[in-house]
Amino acid sequence: MPSSVIATITPARRVQGRLRVPGDKSISHRYAVLAALAHGRSRVLNYAPGADCRSTLACLRSLGVDILEEGSTTVTLLGRGSTGLRSPAAPLDAGNSGTTMRMLTGVLAAQPFRSEMVGDASLSRRPMRRVIEPLTRMGARIEATDGHAPLVIHGTQLRAVAFRPEVPSAQVKSAVLLAGLHAAGTTSVTEPAATRDHTERAFSAFGLRVEVEGLTVSVSGGQRASGQSLSIPGDFSSAAFWMVAAAALPGSRIEIEDVGLNPTRTALVEVLRRFGARVTVRTTAEAEAFAGEPSGTVIVESDRIGSVEIAPEEVPGLIDELPAIAALASHGGDVSVRGAAELRVKESDRIAALVAGFRGLGIEAEERADGFAVHGAGPPRGGVAHAQSDHRMAMAFAIAALGARGPSRIEGADAVGISYPGFFETLERLTTSSAFEAP
Ligand code: S3P
Repeated sequence: MPSSVIATITPARRVQGRLRVPGDKSISHRYAVLAALAHGRSRVLNYAPGADCRSTLACLRSLGVDILEEGSTTVTLLGRGSTGLRSPAAPLDAGNSGTTMRMLTGVLAAQPFRSEMVGDASLSRRPMRRVIEPLTRMGARIEATDGHAPLVIHGTQLRAVAFRPEVPSAQVKSAVLLAGLHAAGTTSVTEPAATRDHTERAFSAFGLRVEVEGLTVSVSGGQRASGQSLSIPGDFSSAAFWMVAAAALPGSRIEIEDVGLNPTRTALVEVLRRFGARVTVRTTAEAEAFAGEPSGTVIVESDRIGSVEIAPEEVPGLIDELPAIAALASHGGDVSVRGAAELRVKESDRIAALVAGFRGLGIEAEERADGFAVHGAGPPRGGVAHAQSDHRMAMAFAIAALGARGPSRIEGADAVGISYPGFFETLERLTTSSAFEAP
């Protein structure tokens, strides 16, 4: 049900401060799933506190995994080994999380039982054929409604596959690789363009062999993962909103510590430099890094407003940052994005939602089949934007509203809880300008 929680954003001249952001959502899902399949106990520090990663934990509990939580970010999982998951008594609920549904479908396809995965209204609209097709080729039987959840997964002994997805998708790659861990032979995925490689790195962290050659990743079946103690860096995609705010509001300076700097995630740094911001990246020494995941400090400062064009080949590296990038324009710059039709099948139709929300804030925005253009003709008047139950829309509109002439209302603002509980409190601290109101 769409929520009516409203955030009121008061304009801010600049953002300033030092902060950490919540643990990386993509890495958290992967560590939880691999810890469940591992032999022995795993302890994960700085696990992402948002609702998506809680959905993964809830599904794993229903599969028989004992999980102990200390506070909201330290999680201990007692692995059940590669053949120890239990048949769930009820459908597994992935909530709003595409990563949970797609990755777990890969795991469940290889289990000797039938299971069902459901999601909320948004997730039930998202395409699942992209995982059903390769997993069916591996021998699983998966029922869906016109390619959408609910999914009924009849797991079985799988056979390896050499899969070439049409769309670059880390979730699809991960589903197939997780299934491949349980398949006879070597499973490979050759992507049309590189996507985030957290699964590959997480496999290594849990003691699994994975081979990467160009755009092809391979795993052999029958390997045993072993429990680990791991820490997760801050989520670069959450940091992106503060980076954009600092770039867009001249006179700003933001310093973000312990943030993930995996090169498949950091393309935004170059985009902000092209826009005219000064971005300093300090990578933490490898010895102190998070289990194969680089991290460090990012500083963004700005003294001017520019414009930026995103080309189709840049899109896979920026897929979750495009909503934030759109907000660069609201303070006077221009942003143009092409080759990003994938945005239409995210938590919302992000092209339509962005354009509608930006117009609501008084910002000129043009919708394209595969992207959008936003023209910032000086500070907008401010207004009302609806998050459409999408966490990244809520945050993009909040950042866009900072540069307005008057206050704005973000409706459905509690969507931020999917990846960034505490987003509005941090906004208030960095700007001393925002107030959060219950309905
Ligand atoms: C993710 C992959 C991306 C991204 C999503 C998280 C992941 O989705 O947009 O937020 O954790 O693998 P796709 O695989 O659909 O591109």
